[in-house]
Amino acid sequence: MPKNIYLNSTEELIKHINGDLPNESLIILDSALEQFQLHSNFNASHVYLEVSEETKNLETIEKIWEIMFLSNLNRSDEVVIIGGGVMLDLCSFAASTYKRGVAFTLVPSTLLAMVDASHGGKNGFNNVHGKNQIGTFNLPKSVVVCFELLNTLKDNDYKDGLIELVKHGLIGSKEIFHTLVSTENFKIDTKTIKKGIQIKEDIVKEDYLETGKRKYLNFGHTIGHLIEQDSKFNLSHGEAVAIGMIYELELSKKHFGLPQEVIDLYISYLEKLDFKKSYEFENSIDYLLEILKDDKKSKSDSVDIVLLSDISQPNLISISFDELIEVIQN
Ligand SMILES: NC(=O)c1ccc[n+]([C@@H]2O[C@H](COP(=O)([O-])OP(=O)(O)OC[C@H]3O[C@@H](n4cnc5c(N)ncnc54)[C@H](O)[C@@H]3O)[C@@H](O)[C@H]2O)c1
Repeated sequence: MPKNIYLNSTEELIKHINGDLPNESLIILDSALEQFQLHSNFNASHVYLEVSEETKNLETIEKIWEIMFLSNLNRSDEVVIIGGGVMLDLCSFAASTYKRGVAFTLVPSTLLAMVDASHGGKNGFNNVHGKNQIGTFNLPKSVVVCFELLNTLKDNDYKDGLIELVKHGLIGSKEIFHTLVSTENFKIDTKTIKKGIQIKEDIVKEDYLETGKRKYLNFGHTIGHLIEQDSKFNLSHGEAVAIGMIYELELSKKHFGLPQEVIDLYISYLEKLDFKKSYEFENSIDYLLEILKDDKKSKSDSVDIVLLSDISQPNLISISFDELIEVIQN
């Protein structure tokens, strides 16, 4: 597994990057980070890139490859990628495939990227067949988490990260779950972020290629993806998964006797975050079934789903499309 480096300030980040990188390297930054003016102190060359979920596609990958060619990057050089999950997924795919692969370091700049997207080696982009349908598994050299970068994050983006973190708690840590649901101000401390990262890393260590345990990280995402697509992405990924987890917690109670108290605590947490707790599906059942069939976890008439017996006790079971559709209709 790559080394995780934790830094508090952007000053330390610049020092680390300058000290660790050969001068021929390239630093690619999310354009949202221009306000930090990090680049004026970098030794290596840099470029800012504006990316979004809508432009997380092959066209942007081509642009990134072109930047790499124009920078005369060779296989012995390195790329440092600083940004949110979209930026990290795109650039680490581009780095993994450019001249058959150059080494890269990830510097996540959103909470979601810190606790999730920068760990586990998945990269890629979207195409007409859905989100992240093209990609590779390839680990970075290191992940540098700089907490000061979170200071400028918009509340909505911060809360999207909290949803993945509370999911890490539900599947792997009572401590994280209870810390989150009992925070008054929704902002969390660096200790909880580090613990969240540890949950993901422990799972990935055991099942890098997602043949078993790594699927636990999909908790809430089966129904979350349905909601996200039904809403035509008007709900953010975090908002959709947040509601998806309510449905999947209810299914957990039905199949595995998950205590109601866990569901109540989770719902009161969503209230604190000012998140929606329900969703009216707009599309036909046939449309939803098509989405379900396209799910990587689906078989012909059922889908593998993660349900909990309790906090930190996930199970992977197969449930029929019929049952899933019935649940979301009620
Ligand atoms: N590879 C993986 O294992 C993995 C895991 C989870 C999610 N993802 C991917 O991550 C993406 C979502 O990531 P995200 O939530 O970080 O969204 P994002 O990358 O779109 O970032 C959210 C917004 O915050 C801005 N931003 C970034 N850093 C900032 C900062 N420090 N201050 C102010 N604004 C900043 C971005 O420009 C963007 O507008 C999705 O595409 C998802 O597929 C990947």
